[in-house]
Amino acid sequence: MSTEAVADIGLIGLAVMGQNLILNMNDNGFVVCAFNRTVSKVDAFLANEAKGTNIVGAHSIEEFCAKLKRPRKAMLMVKAGAAVDEFIDLLLPHLEKGDIIIDGGNSNYSDSQARYVRLKEKGILFVGSGVSGGEDGARFGPSLMPGGNADAWPHIKPIFQAIAAKAPDGAPCCDWVGEGGAGHYVKMVHNGIEYGDMQLICEAYQAMKELYGVDNDKMADIFEKWNSGVLDSYLIEITRDILRFKDTDGTSIVEKIRDTAGQKGTGKWTAISALDEGIPVTLIAEAVLARCLSSIKNERVQASQILEGPKPSITRAISQQEIDDLEQSLYASKIISYAQGFMLMRQASETYKWNLNFGGIALMWRGGCIIRSAFLGDIKAAYDKNPGLVNLLFDPFFQKATAKAQQGWRRTVACCVSTGIPLPAMSTALTFYDGFRSARLPANLLQAQRDYFGAHTYEFESAPGTFHHTNWTGHGGTTSSSAYNV
Ligand SMILES: *[C@@H]1O[C@H](CO)[C@@H](O)[C@H](O)[C@H]1NC(C)=O
Ligand SMILES: *[C@@H]1O[C@H](CO)[C@@H](O)[C@H](O)[C@H]1NC(C)=O
Ligand SMILES: *[C@@H]1O[C@H](CO)[C@@H](O)[C@H](O)[C@H]1NC(C)=O
Repeated sequence: MSTEAVADIGLIGLAVMGQNLILNMNDNGFVVCAFNRTVSKVDAFLANEAKGTNIVGAHSIEEFCAKLKRPRKAMLMVKAGAAVDEFIDLLLPHLEKGDIIIDGGNSNYSDSQARYVRLKEKGILFVGSGVSGGEDGARFGPSLMPGGNADAWPHIKPIFQAIAAKAPDGAPCCDWVGEGGAGHYVKMVHNGIEYGDMQLICEAYQAMKELYGVDNDKMADIFEKWNSGVLDSYLIEITRDILRFKDTDGTSIVEKIRDTAGQKGTGKWTAISALDEGIPVTLIAEAVLARCLSSIKNERVQASQILEGPKPSITRAISQQEIDDLEQSLYASKIISYAQGFMLMRQASETYKWNLNFGGIALMWRGGCIIRSAFLGDIKAAYDKNPGLVNLLFDPFFQKATAKAQQGWRRTVACCVSTGIPLPAMSTALTFYDGFRSARLPANLLQAQRDYFGAHTYEFESAPGTFHHTNWTGHGGTTSSSAYNV
């Protein structure tokens, strides 16, 4: 093989995602060099999937690097963790200052942050990119969330924006996310939001089924209708299809599926980061915990036989008003979830100095990924109008939308609470909404309690910043506690 520098970009890791990204880049007119640790995979790929394309291959890392035009762009699509560092170490001797390493795997954002720093010291530009949309997305248009060393962006932008999914208005679902580990962080939050969106839909399904006995065909029609309104999204669309899907015996297959949810952990990591950052991302956390509750099936079955509570009994068909209320509940809860997700990203951006591009993030999620929806266009518009927007709920569009939705939202939650139907995500969203719009919360009493038993001190509303301790019991000391925090 010739070792002329012919390739616009190189990609390491020929599993399905890697192969599909290469084919996508090739379709868009870029010359890609392919490499795999098992080099026979390279030949097999060139002889089969890549036959008749401009894709070139390499049989060693040295050859791979020699084939890349400068600045060299080497993208890794390998297993997250040690393999990424191994390949970075293999690449380094063959790279020079200004070359770019892109990690498109499912990496931990802390690892990406560390790699960014380590490579920056060597003059190599590191990019950690979230890639969403699965195998089909990779092949025909993923959502790409690149972050890291901003000097790399002008070089990879033409390739990334060409292969990315396009929003309905033609805008590529890919923009620069921010510095350091920002790309993988934003991908993690995307997955957390996906947990929330899915849980919300499941709650609407359960309410319709248990309260009104709506059958799955009718429910599919309802979802179909919703899909042409404010809820227009990929997840609503696939839910419609799932509800219509019949098993070989002609009955709905979804009703035969065991109700224990699996999880790979990205939702959990979003919730952990929310706790670390001190941001009330209640909806995603509830969505993660709802999966945990679902998985203790044996205990639930036992509890269902002994724990008292109202049992929903179906007395009449669902009314249009109730369908509309549910739609509004889903919509308002979803607004809360995204508001919370953006609150978290805003805090992380400050903590890590990432300079996150919020409008760009909404745009990247607009198409190509699991949470794609029309609604993200409205979030993009909100950040375009005001890039410094502190909270999505402060945007007039979302302020009006929640104001309009809330009567139906409250009716749905109240009805389910009184009939014993669990709505963890919808109700936590409503509780957050009411807490967020409370100028005064009962934390004054909480501060008094902390001061009573631990002398933790409190501030007066009239004079924030000065701390006081009260002799509550008549025998307490005057010293305030700094030894432990409760
Ligand atoms: C090589 O290709 C196989 C699939 O053929 C893939 O599973 C593996 O991750 C790739 N590994 C590397 C490090 O290139
Ligand atoms: C990510 O890395 C950090 C730091 O090494 C570690 O504390 C955390 O557990 C990791 N998270 C995941 C999702 O593996
Ligand atoms: C707390 O109050 C009691 C009763 O008024 C008093 O006897 C005691 O001296 C006070 N303690 C301090 C440390 O001021």
